[in-house]
Amino acid sequence: MTATPSFRLDGKVALITGGSRGLGREMAFSFAEQGATVVVASRKEESCVAVAEEITKQTGAKALGLGCHTGDWNAVGAAFERVTAEFGGTDILVNNAGMSPLYDKLTDVEESLFAKVIDVNMKGAFRLASLCGEQMAARNGGSIINVSSTGSVAPTPGIVPYAMAKAGLNAMTLGMARAFGTTVRVNGIMPGPFLTDISDAWDMAEFNERAERTIALKRGGEPNEIVGAALYLASDASSYTTGTIIKVDGGAAYGAT
Ligand SMILES: NC(=O)c1ccc[n+]([C@@H]2O[C@H](COP(=O)([O-])OP(=O)(O)OC[C@H]3O[C@@H](n4cnc5c(N)ncnc54)[C@H](OP(=O)(O)O)[C@@H]3O)[C@@H](O)[C@H]2O)c1
Repeated sequence: MTATPSFRLDGKVALITGGSRGLGREMAFSFAEQGATVVVASRKEESCVAVAEEITKQTGAKALGLGCHTGDWNAVGAAFERVTAEFGGTDILVNNAGMSPLYDKLTDVEESLFAKVIDVNMKGAFRLASLCGEQMAARNGGSIINVSSTGSVAPTPGIVPYAMAKAGLNAMTLGMARAFGTTVRVNGIMPGPFLTDISDAWDMAEFNERAERTIALKRGGEPNEIVGAALYLASDASSYTTGTIIKVDGGAAYGAT
């Protein structure tokens, strides 16, 4: 064994939900650059196909764009079957698709909105990880990465259902690490504030002022700053790491205002 572990992903098939934009897109490009075949999945198949084509053009890696609503149990099953039929299975799964709709007060949260938030952020991730984890365990092992949020451990009033779903995802990471060991590793990433499309809804003057006081690096993350943690967890570099959730948040001090 060499002293420096390899971050290469040659011969691996990586399925990334929410891979068409934001953090997922960055992970898809970096995995392809490291030699993986990537499957980009999100609701809008055309966007996924376009990103897949761009990935192949830029990196030479094989890439597939797939339409899949991750809040839909059967759609997630169909995506799993499609990737298996196309490539023989999945070696790396990134459960990254997520959303947090805005609301004014907790009693404005209707049952349908609550269910949607739980379904997209947690239910579909559970189903996909169950299917992929079982398959990985039966093949050559693999790596599952669940993208939650620092909101799961430091919820603010405007994201309560989302924080609940992401906290569930953290619990799932720990439970599945035990369920699918010894060859499948299951880890999580808890991003803090990243400047993706999500930040379009933020008051940036207010955000920057707060970041100055409460974030050690005094800024939000750029989307590609998620890649180091993702590549570490996806590759053999993390061969003795499972059941861990890595915080990537610029050193935010929770509770500070
Ligand atoms: N950015 C942040 O500050 C931040 C902080 C903490 C945690 N996170 C988490 O990090 C992950 C990525 O966030 P991001 O900022 O990159 O988000 P983003 O830029 O809004 O991208 C979200 C991605 O998820 C897909 N998506 C949304 N709903 C979906 C559904 N029902 N089924 C399948 N795909 C769906 C979107 O594509 P389509 O629209 O085509 O479906 C898109 O590819 C999320 O889980 C988010 O909760 C982000």
